[in-house]
Amino acid sequence: MWAHGSVTDEDKLSRAQARTVIGRVFKMAAPFRKTMYVAFVCVCVTTLCALAGPLLVRRGIDLGIRGKNPTSLNVSVGIYLVVALVAYVFGRAQFLYLNRTGESFLRVLRLAVFRQMQRQSMAFYDRNKAGVLVARMTADIESMAELVQFGLLQFLAAGMLVVFALVLLAALSWQLTIVALLVMPILIAASVKFQRDSNKAYLTVRERVGANLSALQEGITTVRVIQAYAQEEETIRKFTKSNTDLFKSHEHSVRVSTWYFALIEFGGVFASALIIGIGGWLVHRGDVTLGTVVAFTLLISSLFDPVQQLSQLYNTVQSAGAALNKLFQILDAKPEVDEHPGAVTLPTAGELVVNGIDFIYYGTETRALQNVSISVGVGEKLALVGPTGAGKSTLAKLMARLYDPQVGSVTYGGIDLTMATMASLRERIVVVPQEGFLFNGTIRDNLRIARSTATDEEIDAAVAAIGATDHFATLPDGLDTEVRERGSRLSAGERQLVALARAALVDPAVLVLDEATSNLDPGTEAEVEHALERLMAGRTVIVVAHRLSTVQRADHIAVIADAQVAEYGTHAELIAQGGRYSALATAWQKSQISQ
Ligand SMILES: Nc1ncnc2c1ncn2[C@@H]1O[C@H](COP(=O)(O)OP(=O)(O)OP(=O)(O)O)[C@@H](O)[C@H]1O
Ligand SMILES: [Mg+2]
Repeated sequence: MWAHGSVTDEDKLSRAQARTVIGRVFKMAAPFRKTMYVAFVCVCVTTLCALAGPLLVRRGIDLGIRGKNPTSLNVSVGIYLVVALVAYVFGRAQFLYLNRTGESFLRVLRLAVFRQMQRQSMAFYDRNKAGVLVARMTADIESMAELVQFGLLQFLAAGMLVVFALVLLAALSWQLTIVALLVMPILIAASVKFQRDSNKAYLTVRERVGANLSALQEGITTVRVIQAYAQEEETIRKFTKSNTDLFKSHEHSVRVSTWYFALIEFGGVFASALIIGIGGWLVHRGDVTLGTVVAFTLLISSLFDPVQQLSQLYNTVQSAGAALNKLFQILDAKPEVDEHPGAVTLPTAGELVVNGIDFIYYGTETRALQNVSISVGVGEKLALVGPTGAGKSTLAKLMARLYDPQVGSVTYGGIDLTMATMASLRERIVVVPQEGFLFNGTIRDNLRIARSTATDEEIDAAVAAIGATDHFATLPDGLDTEVRERGSRLSAGERQLVALARAALVDPAVLVLDEATSNLDPGTEAEVEHALERLMAGRTVIVVAHRLSTVQRADHIAVIADAQVAEYGTHAELIAQGGRYSALATAWQKSQISQ
């Protein structure tokens, strides 16, 4: 029916914005500008062919039929056939080339956005929810695809047709052109109204589709709770309402378009009738020829159709512009954690020092870390303990520069981490996160994530280094076992072994471990602990510890509480102090005995 683009007032681009967006589109389209020009030429030729038809009819009638000249008639018909053939060839080509231009643009754009997302730091993902980003990649690019696939061609052709047709009509007969234009104001006014109404109607439809979907989703995901409290009727009532709303909005959108299309139809017929009536009288007076009148009635649709198409496409173009604007904003986002121009390589060994850092997550008010200072010597092991939400993981992440602190600095071997090259930083300091993520593919593929150039031998060696060779050998295909998405086939312990083997593959000087909080069965736990011990040997280690055994292996322990270092010392010192740590150690011991 009508074009499906729609745009909210706040998304609508200002003139200046539109200009920058268009400018950037042309810049991005530079590699396939040639295709664009070919497409443009094809559109021009097709448009000219469409206008040539009525002119040939006019010639045939005036010279051939009324002038009683059979040769003239035959020539007119012959040329008409050739024009039709040319129109066919170029019509097809224009579609192909325009589509190729559009799709090439989308391809470049998708890649640019994806590349940009991969470059972004953690802070970017705190600000932009994954769902929104996926929407950018899908819905926004989709709304452009609509324009690219159909709209662009129509828009271009319609604009050109209306201009050419007007020039041609005026050249043929100014009197009849005035008659044709009499209907134009009504047509334009109706089109503008339709464009506004349909935009509004479609926005409502879109909103209600969303509401209906979320009602549906909520009803399904919460069905256990709903049934437990016998609230089925209430849930159905809610869904019925959103469902009816959706029905009504669809009905309204159809009503909006039907009056418009009927009016356009009527306008066309009315204009034709006027032209035939007034044209007939002009022929009688000898002002115009009969052929001209016939040509006019044929050309009138070339004048009216584009106006109608343009009004429909207006919304599509607007929504594509808004989508582009949002995508360009993503493309412009500078990664917070980025390499400095004069970055240096980190030394192979050095002390890791945190100097009075403050850190606040985006969108939060309270400091996740406040004036924290701590240092870890070469080969030393530091355990971070403390209540949940205290800031342990945050400190660990800052020590590996997954984020930059707002105040203070983190240095390695005397060099500020912000001044280090990304390559050397990720080689010296490796983070093993709380929950290791697994990608689709084999275990081997998953290990190679850490170093894409690793050979099979190096992978085997990394697995051997953490003493997990025998364990992985028990899996159906050994290291070539498929893990499936999100590692549903691997146990929690095996997932942790994969995470540790990844770190072993990089063989870093500093290891930042966020110990998994999930409990493992004693057998697996022993295996993971053994792997951990081997991985930690000979390295500087910062470990967020949730187990007494891990803490006891550390040289120093820092208790993090309320975003600060509350206690610092060795196990024995802190026990003697009788503070938070000694209470925690006692609690851990008790829970171990009870197990
Ligand atoms: N990405 C984030 N965006 C906003 N706030 C966050 C983010 N990550 C953590 N926080 C907040 O920062 C504070 C410290 O969190 P952190 O993850 O460092 O705690 P933790 O000590 O590691 O806790 P746990 O033992 O449960 O892992 C918490 O209040 C938490 O809600
Ligand atoms: Mg944590």
